[in-house]
Order: sequence, then structure tokens, then C-alpha cells
Amino acid sequence: MKLEGSRAIVTGAARGIGRGIALELARTGCDVIVGDLLDRPEIAEAASETVSAIEALGRRALSIRCDVSVETDCEALVRAALEEFGGLDILVCNAGIMQIGGVSDITSEQWRRVLDVNLTGTFQCCRAALPSMLEQARGIIVNVASTTGLRTGGERVAYSSSKFGVVGLSQALASEVAPKGVRVNCVCPAFVRSDMSVGEMMLHAGIEDPVEADAAWTRVGEKTGPLGRSVEPSDIGRAVVWLCESDMVVGIALPVTGGSGLPGLA
Ligand SMILES: NC(=O)c1ccc[n+]([C@@H]2O[C@H](COP(=O)([O-])OP(=O)(O)OC[C@H]3O[C@@H](n4cnc5c(N)ncnc54)[C@H](O)[C@@H]3O)[C@@H](O)[C@H]2O)c1
Repeated sequence: MKLEGSRAIVTGAARGIGRGIALELARTGCDVIVGDLLDRPEIAEAASETVSAIEALGRRALSIRCDVSVETDCEALVRAALEEFGGLDILVCNAGIMQIGGVSDITSEQWRRVLDVNLTGTFQCCRAALPSMLEQARGIIVNVASTTGLRTGGERVAYSSSKFGVVGLSQALASEVAPKGVRVNCVCPAFVRSDMSVGEMMLHAGIEDPVEADAAWTRVGEKTGPLGRSVEPSDIGRAVVWLCESDMVVGIALPVTGGSGLPGLA
């Protein structure tokens, strides 16, 4: 399936993996709505940069303020695609937050917030997008889970539970809507360079300077990545494009790891 001319929404696309996905979709010819919190100046600025980068590829782009944990925001995001682009063909639910800690470490509020954003946010965006996709009997949904949604990494009980939920939701939804022309799949990244992952490394390694942390991330990728480099947001973007283009791929959770975690490898 060719994606040229498709209209897409990517949540959490101001930066990181979401931006990588938005740009790879634009490269294949999609117009993209960038849904993000836009709650802090740096996020609003990052969203504008994503929009400019998509436009520089010759496609239409808009950034819309949306907290995926708020159902009316998800509905407004989909409405923006229908009104501004005239329809919606692809939804990528990427927005997510990390919470480090085991059952005894985190508060109930932290547990609920992670579930609200990562799992309920994905559910709400899918639910908002479905009526128009079902009406046109055509649509593609890709949800961003994690390898910790396939096999828990420990010390991230809320995050891991939410990502297992995203994998389950994607499979359940895939079987519900495949007969009606909508394909749902899931992508499961391992370690990808982003504010979320480099920030976590800074915490663990006690590095304070983000530039130094980014350089350390590159070195670790070159030294220990099975392919001799780290996984970048654009790598996840290309996997998402592949899921969108592959007509007969339905209901899968695709790990994109650069080979890390394979038996015999780090
Ligand atoms: N980076 C990794 O190594 C990695 C690995 C596996 C899975 N993931 C998943 O990939 C996705 C993107 O992660 P990232 O590493 O790019 O993170 P990031 O923190 O760099 O970017 C996340 C983006 O989502 C936005 N966001 C957060 N909460 C939101 C909300 N409630 N509503 C709308 N937008 C919101 C943020 O503003 C930000 O722009 C997440 O779902 C994450 O769990 C990341």
C-alpha cells in the first residue's frame, strides 16, 4: 500500500520517537497532525520545529494541543484532522510517560497517571479515531508499546503494566475492527535515543549535562549495540511506515531493538 497523500495523526510528536515517526510518515508523502501537550515553552517550541521539518518535506502539518489522558482532547485532535485535512487515514498513538519504581516505591497517584496516559490515552485516541475510519471502511492504527510490554524489565511496575496493556489493547482492537477494514498493530522499541531514555540514563549515571549525556549515549550504542550504533527515533519511524504499508500485517507487536536482548548479546 502506498501512503502518498494519507492524513496522519501522531501523538507525542513534539520530540523524540514521535517526531521520528512524524518525519518518516511525511517522507513517504503523509500530511501529519502533531498532537502534544504544548504545556511548557520548550514543548511548544519543539512541536513547532516538528511542524517546520514536516513542511520542509513538502507536506502539510499542524500542531494541536492535546493531553491524551483527557477524552475531549483526543476527540478534538481527531476533529482537527477531519476539518483541516478532510479526513484521517493513520493514527499513531505514541505519547507516553516513564515512571521508575517497583510496587513499594511508587504512589497510587503515580500508578494512575502512567496508566491514564500510556494505556487509557491510547484507548481514548483509538476510540476517537474509529468512527471516521469505520465509516470509510479503511484506516491504520499503530500503537507504540515497548519491549517492556512483552517482557518486563523490572523496577518499572506501572510503565511495564501500561505497555503490556497497550499490546493487549492493540490485539483486542485488531480482531474487533480488522473485518471492518481497519488494521491495528503495535511497535515495541527497546532503547531509543530520546529525552525520556537519555534523561533516565542521566539519573542512573549521575550525569548532569544533557550534551555530555547524549555523547555518552552514542558511545554506549557504538560499543554495546549489536549493530555498532544506537537505535534512533527515525529507526522506529521506518518500522511504523512498514507497518502502515504492509496490507496483511494485522494485530502484531513488532519489537525494534537493533538486536539488543538477543540470546548471547547484551
Ligand atoms: N525512548 C525509549 O527508549 C523508548 C523505549 C520503548 C518505548 N518508548 C515509548 O515511545 C514513546 C515515546 O517516547 P520518547 O522516548 O520519545 O519520550 P519523550 O519523553 O522524549 O517524548 C514523549 C512526548 O510525548 C509527549 N507527552 C507526554 N505526555 C503526554 C500526554 N499526556 N498527552 C500528549 N502528549 C504527551 C511529551 O510532551 C513528549 O513530546 C512513549 O510511549 C514511550 O513509552 C520509548
